[in-house]
Amino acid sequence: MTRSKRFELLARRDINKETFVEPWPEAGLIVADSPYDPAPSLIMRDGCAQEMDGKPREDFDALDRFIVAHALDLEIAPEAMDIPAPDYARMLADINVSRADIARLVAGCTPAKLCEIMRHMNVLEMMMGLAKMRIRRQPANQAHVTNWREHPALLAADAAEAALRGFAEVETTVRVARSAPLCALAILVGTQSGRGGVLTQCSVEEALGLRLAMKGLTSYAETLSVYGTEQTFTDGDDSPWSKAFLASAYASRGVKIRFTSGTGSEALMGRAERKSMLYLEARCLLLVKGAGSQGVQNGSISCIALPEALPGGVRAVLAENLLAAMLGLEVAAGNDALASHSSIRKTAKLMLQFIPGADFIFSGYSAIPKRDNLFGGGNFDAEDFDDYNVLQRDMQIDGGARPIREAEALAAREKAARAIQAVYAELGFPAISEAEIAAATVAHSSDDMPARDILPDLAAADVFLHGDADFVAVIRALQATGFADIAANILEMGRQRVAGDYLQPSAIFDADFRVRSAINDANDYTGPGSGYRVTGQRWDDISAIPQAQSPAGFVQPHLAPPISRLVELGAAAKGSTQKEVVLALGPAFGRALGFTIGGLAHEDVLQALLNGIAGEGGLARVVRVYHSSDCAAIGYVGARLSGSGIGIGLQSRGTAVIHQRDLAPLNNLELFPQSPSLSLVTYEQIGRNAARYALGLPAQPVAVKIDNGARLRLIVKTALLHRRETDEARPNTPPQELRYDWEPAL
Ligand code: 5AD
Ligand code: CA
Repeated sequence: MTRSKRFELLARRDINKETFVEPWPEAGLIVADSPYDPAPSLIMRDGCAQEMDGKPREDFDALDRFIVAHALDLEIAPEAMDIPAPDYARMLADINVSRADIARLVAGCTPAKLCEIMRHMNVLEMMMGLAKMRIRRQPANQAHVTNWREHPALLAADAAEAALRGFAEVETTVRVARSAPLCALAILVGTQSGRGGVLTQCSVEEALGLRLAMKGLTSYAETLSVYGTEQTFTDGDDSPWSKAFLASAYASRGVKIRFTSGTGSEALMGRAERKSMLYLEARCLLLVKGAGSQGVQNGSISCIALPEALPGGVRAVLAENLLAAMLGLEVAAGNDALASHSSIRKTAKLMLQFIPGADFIFSGYSAIPKRDNLFGGGNFDAEDFDDYNVLQRDMQIDGGARPIREAEALAAREKAARAIQAVYAELGFPAISEAEIAAATVAHSSDDMPARDILPDLAAADVFLHGDADFVAVIRALQATGFADIAANILEMGRQRVAGDYLQPSAIFDADFRVRSAINDANDYTGPGSGYRVTGQRWDDISAIPQAQSPAGFVQPHLAPPISRLVELGAAAKGSTQKEVVLALGPAFGRALGFTIGGLAHEDVLQALLNGIAGEGGLARVVRVYHSSDCAAIGYVGARLSGSGIGIGLQSRGTAVIHQRDLAPLNNLELFPQSPSLSLVTYEQIGRNAARYALGLPAQPVAVKIDNGARLRLIVKTALLHRRETDEARPNTPPQELRYDWEPAL
């Protein structure tokens, strides 16, 4: 077959490493609106639901029963179900309708009704909805900190850096389940040495997760998965009631809980019952609400590649985030697992949560390199930190992260590594060596760490888990070894578990352990000028990326003393020689500025042009234009003063033009706008061509290198050099004749 070179290239692009599939509702491979999804309905008798979404009470499965018993507000339901879905969609997109008014009604909507509302919304309207409906005012972010070596010093150092970078929650998981207590310990000590008040969890099997929490090693739990069909629950030996019970067990010990759900899990487990992913997710969200959880981690999460393989997948993920927010749940909005090979696609997807904001824009930003991520890759990783910070700065959006300086990072990492070293020593765990501290301080990944024998660590983890020692022993160890501030932070985390204020919806700690939640920092977005805005100190923090340079520094290298051999003689007159080429210089050339944007000395450029003109037998005359700094205007003056009618215009930054008297001011014979690519050889060639035009000889246009990146690289410098030249312009001064003593290089 004939192959198009373009199609061949496209086939090799990252986007074409993805798998795309056509919908297949019978297998649950449909993100929304399966032909088998039920139509919304609710029939009540004596305050009891007799039918929901087309199913009579006798046919209710466990999920339906749980939903009507615990999730649906049956008082409001008759009114809520009566309002047409398009009206809800309009209310969500309308800034004049408050979040409270919508939330009151949504409490009475069945799963099918919730899906029907989404059917009327495009992603832009959903983003408006999310901006209004998310429950906490200021967005935040969660980080993943793991490493394949499960190295305690590296975990602590990375957790400290993540805390410093502004993440409000940091979670880890394990390669080997038995490492869990020590991994949880490492990120606890690490985060609290970076910034007190960062919540942590270790994602493991639920009984173990609960034990870690009860030991005071973790402060939130997010592993309570729910699914949208009864069979998926049964396969997992669970029910909505067992999940609700577990949630209460965590909460009763002061541990913040959040359920996990998301499109695609049922299809992945072969139990989708021909329903769309979004309909099943709507059921999940009502289970989450009914179980009394303050929030949910949804947005497909680990299943993300499945909806993304289907049409409308990314839209459906936003829809599920919005549904959760509508139900008053804290939303940790996915963007965690690797969702695409294409950086364009993964960034585009992110925007749907990044722009409206979410309680946690990522339910796990990989604050480590991809190969160290034990959560199954990260959609954004440590390698993307600077990109992410720039996105925040570009859009004036708070993405829950902040730029940091290298020195701060190194200091925080070393302190955390030393703190975990001290805790290990005090608790009798295998020693962490100085070499390990040094490596963890500067490391990017596990590969930068010395090998560590994992068996003694695992043995110590077993003893720690089964013994009586808990976070109090950790506090004592830190207190005894000069880490009183970290000890105080961990003690405060313990105190907060007793106080329980951070169990409120969407609670995180900001500076000084102040709880910020949907109760005391409720989202009050009602359109332009309202709600959370990135201003003040926070905006300064976000905009001050370390890469930003001082504008003065761009001009400095281009300054030089005036060229002494260039002498001004008085007003320039029109020449009469046929062979004449007038070289017209910009106001700052060889005076206020001494080098082109490409770093060529003005004197060398002058010499090259004059050599070129002389080399072809032309006669050069040099003038300076004062009234304008514009390249075309300068060249136009040169041509008009020239006996032959040919002039060269030259700006200080190096931009040049060959102009001819008969041409309109903005037309020209040859233009050289890409001054950074111009070499002395090119300038000489420009001189030669100008002379040939003057002599009436044919001339091949000078070949110049096309460098489309130059503008991108140099636009700031271009603007500042041009400003400097414009500063030298004097509107009432006529062009001046110049004398330049030079030797033609013949
Ligand atoms: N639905 C339910 N649970 C999920 N998890 C990940 N994705 C989903 C989903 N779409 C769970 C995993 C694990 C944790 C990381 O989140 O099962 O417990
Ligand atoms: Ca998470």
